[in-house]
Amino acid sequence: MTYIVTENCIRCKFMDCVEVCPVDCFYEGENMLVIHPDECIDCGVCEPECPAEAIVPDTEPGHEKWLTKNVDFSKIWPNITRKGEPPADADEWNGKPGKEQYLNANPGCGS
Ligand code: SF4
Ligand code: F3S
Repeated sequence: MTYIVTENCIRCKFMDCVEVCPVDCFYEGENMLVIHPDECIDCGVCEPECPAEAIVPDTEPGHEKWLTKNVDFSKIWPNITRKGEPPADADEWNGKPGKEQYLNANPGCGS
């Protein structure tokens, strides 16, 4: 099992999650983060910290597609360990449906 980041992180990217992870297993894309499933120790600390409620355990049904994205992008995006500046319009995107189309595969800056 692992925790994963799902669709509602896209364009919200609040990054409160990275501050609390004891094993620094978040990886940064241009407009979302993912968790490295092999590094996550399933502590669950990050889940309630996300204002977008985008973090879920992969045991929750219906998130198979997002597990795959966490696996794939954590291999190619840089590690992030400190909270950066969220997008200026992050709050406006929180909860909007259909955000997958905006997922940017480009890597973020990392930290
Ligand atoms: Fe990090 Fe724990 Fe969240 Fe896994 S569940 S990403 S180890 S804070
Ligand atoms: Fe994304 Fe939530 Fe972290 S919006 S960056 S998973 S705090």
